[in-house]
Amino acid sequence: IQIIRAEYVASAVKQSQYPPMNEEDKEFVFVGRSNVGKSSLINSLSRQHGLARTSGTPGKTQTLNFYQLTAKLDETSRQRFFLVDLPGYGYARTGREARRQWAKFIEEYLLSSPRIKLVCQLIDIRHKPMESDILTYRWLEEQGLPLQVIATKADKISRMTVNKQLKAIQEGIGMRNGQLLPYSSAKGTGRDQLLDVIGRLLLN
Ligand code: GTP
Ligand code: MG
Repeated sequence: IQIIRAEYVASAVKQSQYPPMNEEDKEFVFVGRSNVGKSSLINSLSRQHGLARTSGTPGKTQTLNFYQLTAKLDETSRQRFFLVDLPGYGYARTGREARRQWAKFIEEYLLSSPRIKLVCQLIDIRHKPMESDILTYRWLEEQGLPLQVIATKADKISRMTVNKQLKAIQEGIGMRNGQLLPYSSAKGTGRDQLLDVIGRLLLN
């Protein structure tokens, strides 16, 4: 698929602030620790640098932010869908504490939207998963949410170590099935693969 349009539509901390959506609209959500690169990934997917606000300081995104994208599926068909950027979890906190702190409104959103087709959980490719990553992964799995784990900032390590890091992350969070996708928003690595995944979900 090809992205032909991307725009910001709304920020929300409660349901009444979600943008109006049709039943058939599909949402793709990005979760992960603060600073892992969620907003940057949204910019890279949409090829619009300043669409989602990013920062070197963790905690930049504080609300659910909805972006509406339009994809060209083939010569004749287009489809709109939503990317949802979430505040990061776990910064400067660990474990259960972090889970509890990850605001209620995020949990409410993840559990209430029937339109969520995929939750992308982002983990920094340079680090072993933290307890907050592991607990979040388990929780998402328990809720039965469709999951794609993405290893971000792949440009920050040498190609030789990519596979080793992917394996460490896979083992660290206890991933039994599915593929872990390396991604670099800076270089565009993984973009085609993620668009393929999204494209397949848009079609069915
Ligand atoms: P919060 O909103 O605080 O939860 O963070 P976030 O997950 O949205 O992270 P954000 O996209 O704001 O990126 C955090 C920092 O990492 C920024 O300085 C980005 O420029 C940098 N960054 C994000 N993705 C990449 C990447 O693929 N490669 C490199 N080298 N830097 C990246
Ligand atoms: Mg952000």
